[in-house]
Amino acid sequence: MDEGFELRLIDALQPVRGFALAQGIYHLFSSGLYERIEGGPQSVREVAALLEFDAARTSGFLRYLANENYVTLSGDTVALTEKGRALGPYRPWYELLVGGYAETFQQVTDVLRGKGYATRDGRLVGIGSCGMSAYDALPLVRELMSDLPAAPASIVDLGCGDGTFLTGLVGDSGTVTGIGVDPYAPEESAAEGVRFVRSGATDYVRRSADPDAEPDAQQLCLAAFLLQEVLEQEGRGAVVELVRGALRRSGHLAVVEVDHRPADPQVMRHGLGLAYYNPYYLLHVLTEQRLETERFWQDLFDEAGARMVSRRVVDPRVDSTGLEVGYLLTRQEGAAR
Ligand SMILES: C[S@@+](CC[C@H](N)C(=O)[O-])C[C@H]1O[C@@H](n2cnc3c(N)ncnc32)[C@H](O)[C@@H]1O
Repeated sequence: MDEGFELRLIDALQPVRGFALAQGIYHLFSSGLYERIEGGPQSVREVAALLEFDAARTSGFLRYLANENYVTLSGDTVALTEKGRALGPYRPWYELLVGGYAETFQQVTDVLRGKGYATRDGRLVGIGSCGMSAYDALPLVRELMSDLPAAPASIVDLGCGDGTFLTGLVGDSGTVTGIGVDPYAPEESAAEGVRFVRSGATDYVRRSADPDAEPDAQQLCLAAFLLQEVLEQEGRGAVVELVRGALRRSGHLAVVEVDHRPADPQVMRHGLGLAYYNPYYLLHVLTEQRLETERFWQDLFDEAGARMVSRRVVDPRVDSTGLEVGYLLTRQEGAAR
């Protein structure tokens, strides 16, 4: 055996360490342990009893995290380290990429063989995505709303996920009402004036748009990371119809999409390129959704008879790649309905 074998083995195993750690951090959050120890040092036995966990196994899990410096474990006392505390705001990225898509990454070879699409956990995709959107797409949509001629009286959120994006927008005003549409929408709404419909977006728009009525000028329709889903599920024609149908019922449509640039070195040399966009682009190859370029979306909007009122990107303090783009659309003068 040559001298360098062990060093190369350590190097070769770093992705495996990352694999286990990503799962560990996701479960630290999803198990409820993070919330329990966030407030300060706790007894492992008491926390395990409160969560109805096995105390010895809980201690073993926390020992693993202590070895990675996310918690300290001294006797029966566990506490978050500074590194563990700093993780708090990033929980939604773990909910999306691990909770929603860990099973997807296990299916690469089957999908490469052309055996359909990989599965994902749709509920956690909605929860993670809406949680991330609170930092990027939600403020972006608020900016697009400042380009509207007047504040909307109602918002229809197509592909609303767990509904927190919509309640975040509606909650700001106190007077705006909201409808969230998603196959994984919550069963009930806790927010006043907000209701949810469990449905596909194209079905919902087809059912609810009155072809003879004028669009409601005070209504904003929203499609954040939704057109990419419909594109792969139902094809380009269905997306054109969806945009056309949304603008038949609502005065404006706000769209948020991710620009598809996986072969662009400027993207992959960016810190978020390899940390986020590379796996994000991969999961779109495997699942029933398709990312496209800005040019593609702009041509499609044009075909759907939509005019672009404004285009904005996410706050660069959150994501400086410029890949997450928002468009505010309205109907072109004289466009076919
Ligand atoms: C990436 S999430 C976006 C969630 C939220 N709009 C946001 O910005 O965070 C995509 C959502 O679209 C939903 N979805 C997928 N296909 C759909 C369809 N055909 N019609 C409506 N929603 C769909 C998924 O269930 C998921 O909640």
